[in-house]
Amino acid sequence: MKILFIAAEALPWAKVGGLADVVGSLPQTLARLGHDVRLVIPKYGNIDVRQHGIRMLKDKLKVSIMGETRVANLRFTDSGRVPTYMVENDYYFGGEEVYGENDLERFLFFSRVVFEMLPQMDWQPEIVHCHDWHTSPVIMWMKKAHLPYASVLTIHNLAYQGAFDNTFLNKAGLEEFWEHYPTEAPEPPLNFLSQGILWADLVTTVSRTYAQEILTTEYGNGLESLLRYRQKDLLWIVNGIDHQEYNPATDPFIEANYNSESIGKRDLNKLALQQRANLPQNLNIPLIGMVQRLDEQKGFDILAEAADCFLTETEAQLVILGKGRDCYESLLQQIAVRYPQQMSVFITRDNPLAHLIYAGCDLFLMPSHFEPCGIGQLIAMRYGALPIVRHTGGLVDTVPEFTADLKKGNGFVFREYTPDALIAAVKQGIAAFENRVAWGEAMRRVMQLDFSWRASAAKYESIYRQLLDRKGRSTAESRSRLQPKKQ
Ligand code: GLC
Repeated sequence: MKILFIAAEALPWAKVGGLADVVGSLPQTLARLGHDVRLVIPKYGNIDVRQHGIRMLKDKLKVSIMGETRVANLRFTDSGRVPTYMVENDYYFGGEEVYGENDLERFLFFSRVVFEMLPQMDWQPEIVHCHDWHTSPVIMWMKKAHLPYASVLTIHNLAYQGAFDNTFLNKAGLEEFWEHYPTEAPEPPLNFLSQGILWADLVTTVSRTYAQEILTTEYGNGLESLLRYRQKDLLWIVNGIDHQEYNPATDPFIEANYNSESIGKRDLNKLALQQRANLPQNLNIPLIGMVQRLDEQKGFDILAEAADCFLTETEAQLVILGKGRDCYESLLQQIAVRYPQQMSVFITRDNPLAHLIYAGCDLFLMPSHFEPCGIGQLIAMRYGALPIVRHTGGLVDTVPEFTADLKKGNGFVFREYTPDALIAAVKQGIAAFENRVAWGEAMRRVMQLDFSWRASAAKYESIYRQLLDRKGRSTAESRSRLQPKKQ
């Protein structure tokens, strides 16, 4: 099958969150299964066209947007994980940051360029797979223009919808969003994502629990009725991770390589991490790691309230790596100042350090308020760090709770979104660390779980196939309706 992925971020080119991991690794897995998969992303300022041999395919494509004509170049490279197109316009994407100001206009422009160039490309996809709000308008435009591609929208995070007001609507001429609006559908909020949900042939999200949660007012972010309207075509496929990229046995970024048969060597990573974090090097102290975007979703508000308690009452160490909201950056740094022997915060994005945290911490903390899937806990388990998670979204599906003897389950789980519940789960993890035999066995067992893309990529394959069958059937039906029946 020929599949085009369209997204705002994808590894190895640009990464802010888990979206980049998925759009970086799923296409590659599908390509290994024999499909012809390509990707299109914006060309951000930090992507060096010379270094990666990113050649010009079409220059000076004119696109009108917000009442103005702007120019885009279309570039192409084979040097990524899959053949990749890049939309170049330095006014919108010349900076290094994936997201910033003016994102509505930037991604409307990106979507429009992709939509206009699609039918002109030499290579033609059968399936167009869009991700999140940034690329949702493509789906609506394709439907309206009756382009022959099947469309899939994957929701990675319903909290971000590309919401706009009437002023933007008028300026951008988005009245067309509602021109073909089905009268029986619930009136969607003014945003990009609602258009993708409304018009995609199939809508998917990234875990079973999140697919149920988003139909409720608590998690639906105002889109629950629209999602219920599309429920028949709303599916879930849990994310995987790239088992080659995340493999403690071969990982070049960590101090010592190991596998589930040689977990003793893992100690060297813990010592290296303690040293890097400027904390006492002591294997008997439980070390808790976090690698997260610093925002509400990830539970930093309850962590900030809970940290004093477990750092005072236990000797545990806490190492946090991430960037995000200023308020959390400074809050965490202030707490770290109070516990120089126990807590260390790295306010940055640093992939090699992230790998060392996965390989060196004993417990991996994800106290998320909500979590569509979550990737960190999957990587942590592959590296033998036992997760402490809140019972929400993909964390429910991937981290069943440990029994008291650690013989069953994958992690320590709390339900209420409160500092107290978080403290209780952290203390449970710390207490369990004392029983080194049970801990070692649990580590070995969790490391052997399969979180690779194998099963999930097969599910994507099967939904793409279903879609093409469905499309084939409807084309055949409309053809037979046009042809006079033979007497
Ligand atoms: C978003 C979600 C996260 C998910 C990722 C990839 O970052 O917050 O839960 O794992 O997308 O789908």
